Amino acid sequence: MRKALSVASECAPLIKTGGLADVAGALPAAMKAEGWQLRTLLPGYPAVMAAVKRGHVVWEEPDLMGGPARVVAGKASKLDILALDAPHLFDRKGAIYLGPDGRDWPDNPERFAALSWIAARLAIDGVENWKPEVVHLHDWQAGLVPVYLRDMAGNDAPGTLLTIHNIAFHGHAPAERLTSLRLPASGFHPGGFEYYGRINALKAGLVYADKLSTVSPTYAEQLLLPEFGMGLDGVLRSRRADLTGILNGIDTTVWNPAEDPLVTAYKSPKRKTANKAALQLEFELPGSKGPLAVVVSRLTEQKGLDLLLEALPAFLRRGGQLALLGAGDDVLERAWLAAAAEYDSVGVRIGYDEALSHRLIAGGDAIVVPSRFEPCGLTQLYGLRYGTIPVVALTGGLADTVISANDAGLKAGVATGLQFHPVTASALTGALLRLCDLYEDTQVWQRMQRKAMRHPVDWASSAPRYAALYEALGNAE
Ligand code: ADP
Ligand code: GLC
Repeated sequence: MRKALSVASECAPLIKTGGLADVAGALPAAMKAEGWQLRTLLPGYPAVMAAVKRGHVVWEEPDLMGGPARVVAGKASKLDILALDAPHLFDRKGAIYLGPDGRDWPDNPERFAALSWIAARLAIDGVENWKPEVVHLHDWQAGLVPVYLRDMAGNDAPGTLLTIHNIAFHGHAPAERLTSLRLPASGFHPGGFEYYGRINALKAGLVYADKLSTVSPTYAEQLLLPEFGMGLDGVLRSRRADLTGILNGIDTTVWNPAEDPLVTAYKSPKRKTANKAALQLEFELPGSKGPLAVVVSRLTEQKGLDLLLEALPAFLRRGGQLALLGAGDDVLERAWLAAAAEYDSVGVRIGYDEALSHRLIAGGDAIVVPSRFEPCGLTQLYGLRYGTIPVVALTGGLADTVISANDAGLKAGVATGLQFHPVTASALTGALLRLCDLYEDTQVWQRMQRKAMRHPVDWASSAPRYAALYEALGNAE
């Protein structure tokens, strides 16, 4: 087996705030099938340290950005974990990126620079005779790795691939922290990791990693545009030749309607009814002739759920219903709770609840994902697999994974969902009303459901594409 080190700030099922965790958690198994052994370096948050409590220490560092640190190797949930045990950085209660005041931890630059510095050290020196050929970095939290690698080993460093899951977060730090973050001053210029006078960890990765990828082909194109590049589109255009879009897959053992222990399992979409009835009961929704749409999402600007609030009245008038599970921005949480109080046909749960997310995906007729931008998106993939028709914005990975029920799509019998464009409340309203029309035509609806359930959503086609990138990096040495 060839060896790769994956460096991420979250990894399912150990610690998760979003899809990045799912992908970091799924890659090792997917890549094993391609002949690559992945070990995953994670921050030693309490949940991670608990998961590797039977592990053993493979590295010690007397002073890592303000305190002692060690790396503990252990197996957890079939994953080969290297946990960076640095209590001064990671042993904290609460959210992994945010302090109790709801703002980023002030030392986030140090926390993830420490993770990146250790990643570089381990990659160069190896761990108990295990030395990676490739280092796979995820998002800004691992962005500094290629800078440290160059600094420590020059051209002898292993190849690096940076995957962009979310370009909205850059990992900024003031220039004064250069020394405390162990960064070479020689890289602090506009062609390096400087960004308008500050250190920018994501930009560091975009400039210095050998290859770049993002999580869908459409988003790889969109990232080159000012509209989506979030200030880094220029850097990305300069690296266009090294940037690829590789679609995310989902874990089809966890998300399998035929064997899901969290719902009434089903093979045929006709058998979804028990789940729908249970969901209506759970959310106290009245019986209705229209479709039950569901949402499972972070409540942030990205996800466009304010547009869905605007589109609701017209959808409800047509007999539609909505059940939402989400957490995030205060304003959005309050607005959704107010909608639930106003309309009988709207049910809302604020919080993070894995089991409830399965009941929603299984019980819904449709799943709505009205994102303003979406690198890939996973919940529309769950929807497809469960015969829960996705209604999605035509953007990023949503554009690549759903086949629209426009006239051509329906005629050819290939449609799996609905796409709307532009991403506005009125276009979304149009899509929801069309959903109601399609739902009334049982034959068309069931055909779409069957087609959706057969759409490939696993890692089978994406893993070989990552393997090809790893291969190119490994050989480049
Ligand atoms: P993002 O990573 O931008 O949040 P994705 O669609 O890629 O979007 O991944 C989100 C993941 O988090 C999915 O697995 C989704 O089911 C899960 N998720 C989001 N919000 C919740 C919630 N409130 N409760 C349970 N799971 C959630
Ligand atoms: C990000 C994106 C999401 C993607 C996930 C996993 O959080 O917002 O679209 O599916 O990463 O790659």
